[in-house]
Amino acid sequence: MKTMIAENVGKYSGQILEELITAKQIQTRIGELGRKISADYVGKTPIVIGVLNGSIIFMADLIRQLSTACEIDFIKITSYYGDVKSSGTVRLLKDISCMITQRDVIVVEDIIDSGLTAKFIRQRLLESEPSSVAFATLLLKPEMIDLPFEVDYAGFEIPNRFVVGYGLDLDQKMRNLPSIWAFPEGMEV
Ligand code: IMP
Ligand code: MG
Repeated sequence: MKTMIAENVGKYSGQILEELITAKQIQTRIGELGRKISADYVGKTPIVIGVLNGSIIFMADLIRQLSTACEIDFIKITSYYGDVKSSGTVRLLKDISCMITQRDVIVVEDIIDSGLTAKFIRQRLLESEPSSVAFATLLLKPEMIDLPFEVDYAGFEIPNRFVVGYGLDLDQKMRNLPSIWAFPEGMEV
């Protein structure tokens, strides 16, 4: 297992990170997801909506694996969590700019943790009466998730550890790492 030492992340600097998913494993899995999505949307032109900021790298790679036509747009939200992760509040920072009424929508997230973000986005999008809403996420924490609907496309299920890289951040940093790295088990962020 490859390791590295975290830098420039305040009190978390000096922590030892373990590489959880390699860049090659990510690309292989995105190829599979792309084929699955392409098969499910034959003859359709879905609008792929990336959740800023974390999804940008996954989204860029995923849409290039689609053989169906697609359009893209973005939404940005922020969440504040209380003691219980799933009981936080979510606020819209940037809404979508396109019309999704009677369109097929695929929301792309970097990670679904408690599911609060996904729940909020789904409610917002359903207000505009799209034909369908699906969710694609690179990572999923099955121990934490509390969702009243299925996640349609999930790249990897991971343990309940804080991860960074490939779009995911700690305090806005480390998004540019090409693979997924995990902070030590039990570390609260
Ligand atoms: P939620 O709990 O499913 O609403 O996840 C909300 C957001 O928290 C995600 O979109 C990520 O931006 C962030 N997040 C959750 N877990 C992690 C992690 O392990 N690393 C980095 N960001 C995370
Ligand atoms: Mg974040």
